[in-house]
Amino acid sequence: MMSELRIGIAGLSGRGLHWIRLMQKLKGYRITALCDLRQEALDDGLAAVDGEDEQACFRDYEEFLNFDGMDAVALVVRSEYQGALAAQALEAGKHVSAEVPAAHSMDECWRIVLAQERSGKVYHLAEQCRYAGYLDKWQELVRSGDLGDVTYAEGQYLHYYTRCMFQDPHSGALFGVDRLPEFPDAVAAWVNRMPPIHYVVHDLSPLLRVLDDRVVEVIGMSTDSPSRAHPEILSPDMQVALMKTEKGAMLRLAASFAQPHPENDTHWQQVIGTKGCVEWRRALDDVPRLWLADGEARDKQPQTWGFSKDQEPEEAKGSGHWNLDFYVHAAFRDAVLYDQSLEFDVYKAMDVAAPSILAADSIDQDSRKLEVPDFRPNANRKKGEAP
Ligand SMILES: NC(=O)c1ccc[n+]([C@@H]2O[C@H](COP(=O)([O-])OP(=O)(O)OC[C@H]3O[C@@H](n4cnc5c(N)ncnc54)[C@H](O)[C@@H]3O)[C@@H](O)[C@H]2O)c1
Repeated sequence: MMSELRIGIAGLSGRGLHWIRLMQKLKGYRITALCDLRQEALDDGLAAVDGEDEQACFRDYEEFLNFDGMDAVALVVRSEYQGALAAQALEAGKHVSAEVPAAHSMDECWRIVLAQERSGKVYHLAEQCRYAGYLDKWQELVRSGDLGDVTYAEGQYLHYYTRCMFQDPHSGALFGVDRLPEFPDAVAAWVNRMPPIHYVVHDLSPLLRVLDDRVVEVIGMSTDSPSRAHPEILSPDMQVALMKTEKGAMLRLAASFAQPHPENDTHWQQVIGTKGCVEWRRALDDVPRLWLADGEARDKQPQTWGFSKDQEPEEAKGSGHWNLDFYVHAAFRDAVLYDQSLEFDVYKAMDVAAPSILAADSIDQDSRKLEVPDFRPNANRKKGEAP
């Protein structure tokens, strides 16, 4: 059994540097390689690593994958090729811990699933919101039947995020709308060209966990491009997906990056069943609520649920995103080093990725309803569906 996980980190901007700092604090990780297309980002990555260990540095992803001093790849690139890069790492025999979104096309989803199955390596999607403590309570309410049959659920990710919408084609540097006059040759960066609904993962992942369900049909709708809030930005201000699940519930998911929205109040969810409902807080100074049809209360009652779990490990504190970032790195490490099974396996990760991708495809096809495949190797995996 391996005693430490030698990991290489690809993508060394804000999030990649956060991963470096976090992994150095967690037992079991040793950072042995760094990769970014930009030399400036590699320099930032090297500066963020403490200690005596040396890191091999790469600007070419294929050369990085050929480095035999690492067992696993941490993929923290914001790129339209994110899914292909994850699959390529599995194909090269590396375990993969990938940032969200997992992929941006259905072909990439299938390639990841097949590469994971063929290689037997661990693939883990680092979606951290599904670990929130309040979701443990919601899951109990659904499992116990207290909410009855779930008929409807909502999730939304409204994140005013304009600071990396543009890229200097010469240096690769990313910047926001405010600095456009400094870069006459600026091009739209991926986050600017990406359909916002591709990023609804942080709200769909928690809902599917609570419902223990998967999406089977999806319809998308969008406001027009460019943004009305910032006409320089291509990203539409709002995209919405309607989904139907295998168990028969309907979901509404919304995503937005270009339109102003209160900071730190990016996520919201609710779940409605035949015997009651739960909802997350409506504003930062609000509280979550619960109503049960056979209870005494006539209206939804305030609850003390929060992001923290009842038992929060000391190592989780300060890890980022309400202390939830810890859980993704712990789950990945424990799966690779200690052979522990992943709750959020490659199939559940694709259950989250595929409906988001197909919602954008539906938008491109005048809101046509699209079927979501089951990626699991069983009777539902239609022959010929996997490329
Ligand atoms: N889970 C979360 O809460 C959370 C939060 C922030 C970002 N993210 C995800 O983390 C990733 C990185 O986010 P960011 O804000 O740091 O992005 P960013 O756009 O600022 O930086 C991405 C970096 O990846 C590099 N890169 C792109 N393609 C590459 C390739 N083929 N090979 C090597 N390097 C490449 C770029 O040069 C850049 O330095 C994104 O996928 C984003 O969606 C997740």
